[in-house]
Amino acid sequence: MRVLLTGGAGYIGSHTALCLLEAGYDVVALDNLSNASPEALKRVEELTGKKAPLIVGDCTNEKDVTAVFEQYKIDAVIHFAGLKAVGESVAKPLDYYQNNLDATMVLCRVMPRYNCDVLVFSSSATVYGTNQEMPLREDFPTGCTNPYGWTKWISERILTDVAHADPTRSFVLLRYFNPIGAHESGRIGEDPSGIPNNLMPYICQVASGKLQQLGVFGNDYPTRDGTGERDYIHVMDLAEGHLAALKYALENKGVEIFNLGTGVPYSVLDIVHAFEKANDLTIPYRITPRRPGDIATCYADPKRATEMLHWSAKRDLNTMCRDAWNWQKQNPKGYNE
Ligand code: NAD
Ligand code: UFG
Repeated sequence: MRVLLTGGAGYIGSHTALCLLEAGYDVVALDNLSNASPEALKRVEELTGKKAPLIVGDCTNEKDVTAVFEQYKIDAVIHFAGLKAVGESVAKPLDYYQNNLDATMVLCRVMPRYNCDVLVFSSSATVYGTNQEMPLREDFPTGCTNPYGWTKWISERILTDVAHADPTRSFVLLRYFNPIGAHESGRIGEDPSGIPNNLMPYICQVASGKLQQLGVFGNDYPTRDGTGERDYIHVMDLAEGHLAALKYALENKGVEIFNLGTGVPYSVLDIVHAFEKANDLTIPYRITPRRPGDIATCYADPKRATEMLHWSAKRDLNTMCRDAWNWQKQNPKGYNE
């Protein structure tokens, strides 16, 4: 059984590649390397002792996608490829709509030509928009606050309509909450370019001395300590969630949506203190104004995934903080050593 991982050289894709190889699947990655290094999959090969071939190509290009299906017999696709920076999507909406939507549509067109019906899609908790009621359930209303979010929302819509039109398709849409951490070996991890936008990579770079101080974006939210709360999930738990989703899609037709989160909210200050405790370090921080577009609280109801995929997140916050730092410490320049 061979699985095509679009965006397979990226953060979540490389960890999922490792899990799939360890579970006995073959993988092939299609990635344009716009936000990744080929080194990630080399290290996956090193860790697993198995092949993780990388085809450098673009998912929005029908020829590139077709070439992969011509070269390999593909049984299922996990579609990670996409641009993901919220702020950049506000500045460059057309780049985001073109890249993220074309990639989804090209796959939907090419797959049936090769009798490949199974697709797992990387969606995001961002599609829940400004919902106030927590925890978030898959049947809650959706809507977005930025172009990146809308690309996920519209991709979900496209995949749902395609699955309804063609009953041979099996699509699983996964709404990720906040993936952090790294494989326990510290050989693969998150390698953001430039100054990180997200909390955990920022904390790691403060810990390493690359950045001076963390800015905590607001302490006047209606939360326990006033800072924003999120549902952080270890990237290896998330990767294992893909394995469960893939198994489900191989056995069931139609389209289903699942949250992948832990169901436990932690505040920004909880994360700072857990990181300090797990790694015996001090993280200098100061309170700064709120970041525009941020919401107070966002966490999952993970019940549906537990019941239908027989999956739940296992790793605790201490492990997430330990593994994030272990990766950063061993790879201060990411994959560009
Ligand atoms: P990432 O940037 O590390 O991985 C995405 C990969 O896709 C990169 O390797 C990039 O080079 C590749 N790519 C982008 N456009 C491409 C194209 N047109 N053709 C081929 N390759 C292309 O990001 P990630 O954190 O691993 O995220 C994977 C997916 O999960 C993305 O779709 C992202 O939007 C989604 N997601 C991520 C998060 C998160 O917090 N990391 C949360 C929710 C959803
Ligand atoms: N935060 C800080 N300082 C920082 C960075 C973040 O205080 O330097 C705070 C934010 O205000 C927020 C929390 O830390 O309260 C988490 O912020 P992240 O940027 O790490 O994550 P977000 O929840 O804003 O967004 C992430 C991804 C989105 C995705 C969303 C839901 O970046 O793409 O999770 O999955 F849509």
